[in-house]
Amino acid sequence: MVIFKNVTKTFGRHAVISDMNLEISRGQLAVLIGPSGCGKTTTLKLINRLQDLTSGNIFVDGKDISETNPVELRRSIGYVIQQIGLFPNMTIEQNIEVVPRLLKYPKEKCHERTRELLDMVGMEPSKYLGRYPFELSGGQQQRIGVLRALATSPPLMLMDEPFGALDPITRDSLQDEIKKLQKSLGITIVFVTHDMDEAIKLADVIILMKDGKIVQKAPPEELLANPANGFVREFTGKKRIKANYDLDLVHEIMNPSVVVVTKEKGFAGSLDLMRKRNVDSLVVIDDAGHLEGVITVEALLGAAKRKRIGTIGEVELLKVPTIDQYAQARDAFSIIIEKKLPFLLVVDNNNRLKGIVTKTSVVKALASIVWKDENNE
Ligand SMILES: Nc1ncnc2c1ncn2[C@@H]1O[C@H](COP(=O)(O)OP(=O)(O)O)[C@@H](O)[C@H]1O
Ligand SMILES: [Mg+2]
Repeated sequence: MVIFKNVTKTFGRHAVISDMNLEISRGQLAVLIGPSGCGKTTTLKLINRLQDLTSGNIFVDGKDISETNPVELRRSIGYVIQQIGLFPNMTIEQNIEVVPRLLKYPKEKCHERTRELLDMVGMEPSKYLGRYPFELSGGQQQRIGVLRALATSPPLMLMDEPFGALDPITRDSLQDEIKKLQKSLGITIVFVTHDMDEAIKLADVIILMKDGKIVQKAPPEELLANPANGFVREFTGKKRIKANYDLDLVHEIMNPSVVVVTKEKGFAGSLDLMRKRNVDSLVVIDDAGHLEGVITVEALLGAAKRKRIGTIGEVELLKVPTIDQYAQARDAFSIIIEKKLPFLLVVDNNNRLKGIVTKTSVVKALASIVWKDENNE
């Protein structure tokens, strides 16, 4: 969706971005992070041509942006900054519809979209459409800023520390909302922050920058587990967490509540359970709690196409890797990351199921250690 090819940006003699190569895939939420002055804001502004690059090429959606009209380009890319800049003398409705009206979208369509957007973030349209920005809280104003950027359904959004000025609780709920919006709308987001907690929470991929260069690009769990060098380790807090996280054992970080069934469970009941608990596989145990295997929703539906399934004992179970409850948590993390597993089942020395370590729990465990340490300082 966004490609940087040998991009350099200099101000005077100072190279703010030097020879940057970068690829952000469609539908990804990529977080740019790094110390103040490392070039994050400049990187965003190069994408929507608020700044022009000195050399190299940037492609958005396959098109070299140097060949597009900057004004049109900017209108086709959502842009949200910290000082959201709602127009104080316009209502919320007028604020959200600024760009769609500029683009001469039909009035009715604009109104419909605005209502839809307000609904998406749980702001009752009839209550808010006619209000003015000063009548809203800081968090609500920032929400409107995000909606304004979404009004034309741009496939790409650039967000520059959009939640930096908000209190932690409002910030947290806006982070949840943006993640939800991104997934449901399938948009690509390039999000700038200098806050590692925010990056860990939001990112599909984290791009860590220093002095106008990319130091490491990796999914959060990988960045935390395998920092490329001392700078990354320092920045992610790994140095400080290392000691703790070496000591944790699998049973201390696992989730003990696993969605389990026995072989006697019926076909419909199993599907129902998956739906209710929002999982795509079930762990099968015997009456004494011994692990028998895993059954995925695909396997279950696949088998049902071939023959009539009474109980899930009639379907072949999947063998999955396990780890002992007293193994090092670190080893569980490495196995999940290296083998790209969605989860790892935890057993005792009699192969009885004890819990589950998921990809998400890896990130959470690592992040909570980072937080803990920072609070202690
Ligand atoms: N318009 C400009 N003129 C000169 N220098 C600039 C300009 N904009 C940014 N810089 C410099 O470029 C560097 C990167 O800035 P910026 O991209 O804003 O960093 P970040 O967003 O990571 O804090 C800084 O050293 C900053 O002083
Ligand atoms: Mg900045």
